[in-house]
Amino acid sequence: MGLRRLKRVPLEQLQPCLLPLPEPGAVFDWSAVFGNGRPVELEVGFGKGGFLVAAAQAEPLVNFVGIEIERALVLYVAGRLVRRRLGNVRLIHGDARQIVARHLPPDSLQAIHVYFPDPWWKRRHRKRRLFTPEFAQGCVRALKPQGRLQVATDVEEYFTEILSLLHGIPALKPVERGRAEAVTSGPCSVITNFQRKALQQGRPVWRAVFEKCQA
Ligand SMILES: C[S@@+](CC[C@H](N)C(=O)[O-])C[C@H]1O[C@@H](n2cnc3c(N)ncnc32)[C@H](O)[C@@H]1O
Repeated sequence: MGLRRLKRVPLEQLQPCLLPLPEPGAVFDWSAVFGNGRPVELEVGFGKGGFLVAAAQAEPLVNFVGIEIERALVLYVAGRLVRRRLGNVRLIHGDARQIVARHLPPDSLQAIHVYFPDPWWKRRHRKRRLFTPEFAQGCVRALKPQGRLQVATDVEEYFTEILSLLHGIPALKPVERGRAEAVTSGPCSVITNFQRKALQQGRPVWRAVFEKCQA
């Protein structure tokens, strides 16, 4: 993924945006991380940060956390956040499959955004995929009751598989589903880098929103 050359922000100025993993066996304490008790939303695989940056600007009273496996992208997006003085975002470098399974406090997130999850959508790449039954269960555990899991992809076959996975989880109910010109409602009216590319190239984008049922 090519990164635009931006004037480099020194690493020490990026540090406040970067969130180290907790000790093994421990979960994040969002109030301690952000210094307030505002709602928290997670984006998994934020890429160049199109969604995170725009959503954090649009919703200053919401805290955003992003997980990204590529360190270069984490540093790139941290630079974007520092330049815009956005204090309501923290970035975690690591594999979301492990972080979601091990380190998210239960019933703690208002929303989880997974947009254009990964390049491993083919059946033969199943082992490398982000969206597995374990990942989906981890997301459900971390959502608050009525919290939302929002998914978009331009791969229809993958979308169908994700839908059948999520429909099979009794704690989730479908709220919206369909083709998107733009991801709608709330901070998700924001278009991601991959979504922009897909729409520019005339490829359809598929999106779905599921809500966690009340306990
Ligand atoms: C196709 S890009 C989409 C980026 C962005 N969400 C967008 O819509 O523009 C997928 C992103 O997910 C990241 N990713 C893939 N697997 C991951 C994992 N297991 N944990 C964290 N990030 C992951 C990739 O590094 C990449 O940045």
